[in-house]
Parts: sequence; structure tokens; C-alpha cells
Amino acid sequence: MMRALAVDPATQSSRIVDVPVPKPKPGQILVEVTVAGINEMDVEVRAGGWAAQVKRFRRDGPVLSGFEFAGIARTSGKCIRAGQRVMGYSPVLNGPRVHAQFAAVPESSILAIPDSLSDESAAALCVMGLTAVEVLERLCPLSPAQSCLVIGAAGGFGVYAVQLAASRGARVTAVASAANESWVRAQGAQEFRAYETAPALQPGDAYDLIIDTPAHLSFRAAAPSLSRSGMYVSSNPTSDLAGLARSSISSRRAGFLMMLKTSPSRLTRLADLAENGTLRAAIDSVFDISEADKAFDRFATRGKQGRVLLRI
Ligand SMILES: NC(=O)c1ccc[n+]([C@@H]2O[C@H](COP(=O)([O-])OP(=O)(O)OC[C@H]3O[C@@H](n4cnc5c(N)ncnc54)[C@H](OP(=O)(O)O)[C@@H]3O)[C@@H](O)[C@H]2O)c1
Repeated sequence: MMRALAVDPATQSSRIVDVPVPKPKPGQILVEVTVAGINEMDVEVRAGGWAAQVKRFRRDGPVLSGFEFAGIARTSGKCIRAGQRVMGYSPVLNGPRVHAQFAAVPESSILAIPDSLSDESAAALCVMGLTAVEVLERLCPLSPAQSCLVIGAAGGFGVYAVQLAASRGARVTAVASAANESWVRAQGAQEFRAYETAPALQPGDAYDLIIDTPAHLSFRAAAPSLSRSGMYVSSNPTSDLAGLARSSISSRRAGFLMMLKTSPSRLTRLADLAENGTLRAAIDSVFDISEADKAFDRFATRGKQGRVLLRI
């Protein structure tokens, strides 16, 4: 048996339960999890969202949380060997949850952790770093003459978007709380707007990319602040379907901050960017699994600087 974090949607709290250690199927690696991230999807699971998934897990036992991790491989696969330190994520729709001592995860979503990275740094970078790579290297690659507005720049995703956009030479404007200005500038932002006192969008803006992590805007609202072929990327795919339709008849584009699965090559790219210092783990706080409710409270607190982690 192993310890795992079960959620109770009725009270939106977590408790440690004993569940069987998973048995890896062909193509999976059994990972002993050392550190795991908390992200918005975990909050949704705790709130009773993801109804179908919650129901499915209920039939098998308690509902668990956790989508991204660092740990030690306890079985070998084609590329991963037992005993190696590994980082990865569990496929969102059908993967196991990883706020647990062990998880059986597809080898395709695991990578050996570079020696220069701690387990905490690896867990802090995983899903948010991969999503930054997805947005800034595939969806809307920026060149040095271009500009980018990152709304929610001190958050778990926003910080890596700032780092990666700045590393490409783009001019980055960050929107975050006033208290986080110097921290966000240290990540690579050249200009700053405090959301308490200044609107995110201002007259004369002409950004090549606007990343809206709180998803407070819409394509329609952002379009006047985009360059002619600029792109608006929102974190909420369902809140602005009209915007998506509108963008299809505009030179300006709309996209979503979404990454349901990735490829081993993108994981390798993430590790390279972490090793060469382009992406730097931003860790707000680390809690023991026995303090999970405190960790979720911290995640919900305004003014965080990067990721909240659980030591398993
Ligand atoms: N793969 C994916 O599909 C994927 C990957 C990454 C993220 N996401 C989504 O992206 C969203 C953000 O995730 P996250 O982990 O970065 O969350 P987070 O760590 O909570 O960050 C959200 C940020 O938004 C800021 N914010 C809130 N209201 C704001 C406002 N009015 N103006 C400017 N900034 C504001 C917050 O600042 P304060 O703390 O000061 O309030 C916080 O820094 C979530 O919905 C998540 O599901 C999806």
C-alpha cells in the first residue's frame, strides 16, 4: 500500500489515504514521487469539477489529485532506467494522479532530470515550463524586434512566459500586483503595469503577443492592442469561443493556453532550456503532503511568486 492525497469535493479539503501501489502496464514506468506541483486543475478536482473523471475514480477508490511530478524511476523502460531521477506529467484525461507515493506513468511523458536540477526545480518547471515552450516556440514564436504582454506575470505559468519571451529578445511588459514588480522585472520584464492601478491594455499598445492567464479579457477587447498579425492567447478555451470565430476573419489571431499532452522532444527541449538557464524554476513555497490544505490555501492566495509544491 502507499500514501496518497485524496480530495473531498464536499468540503474541498484533502486527506491522506492508503491505496494500493499501482502496477505499471507495458509502456509505463513506476515512479516514486518526491515532489509534485499544485495547479489549477487540482483545484478543479478538489472543487468537484471534472465530474466524469471524479466518478470514474470513485468506482476504483478515492479521488486523487496531482498532474506533475519529480521522483525516482523504480522500473525500467526503453530509455528510462530504474534508479534514475525523473520529471514528468501525468496525461490529463486518462493518466493517474500523482499526489501519491507512487504513480505508473507513460514513459513518453517522463524525462531524466538533468544533474543540475533539483527535484523541486524539476517539478516546478514541468507543466508550466512545457506550456511556455508550447506557446512561445510553437504557437507564437517571438523574434527580437517583437513585443509581448504577459498578464498574470508572477503566476506559475506567467513567470516562465516572461523568462522565455525575454530570452528570445522580445520586449516584455508584465502585468502583476505592485508588490511583485521588482521580482517580475528580475525574470526579464522590461516594462511593468500594476493591475491595482493601471489597466492591462492601454491606448497605443500594439503587441505581437498578449498572454492572458487570468482570462479576464476577450479577443474582442484585446484586438485593438495587438499588432496587425498579433496573437491573443487566453487560458480559458471555453470563455471566448466567439473570439476564436472572430479571429478567423481577422489578420489578428486567437489561441489558447492549453497543453493536454506533449512529446518526448518537447520534454527534452524543456530540460535543455532549464540546463542552459533560459528557464529558471520559480518556487513560491514547498509544503509537506501532510500540510496539503495549507498548500492549496497558499495556491489560492493572491501575490504568489511562481509555483506551490508538495513534498511527498
Ligand atoms: N497546460 C495547460 O492547459 C495550462 C498550463 C498552464 C496554465 N494553464 C491555465 O492558466 C491559468 C493560470 O495558471 P497559473 O498556474 O499560472 O495560475 P496562478 O499561479 O494562480 O497565476 C495566475 C496569475 O494571475 C494573476 N492575476 C489574477 N488576476 C489578475 C488581474 N486582474 N490582472 C493581472 N493579473 C492577475 C495572479 O496574480 P495575483 O496572485 O497577484 O492575484 C497570478 O499571478 C489557469 O487557469 C491554468 O489552468 C493551463
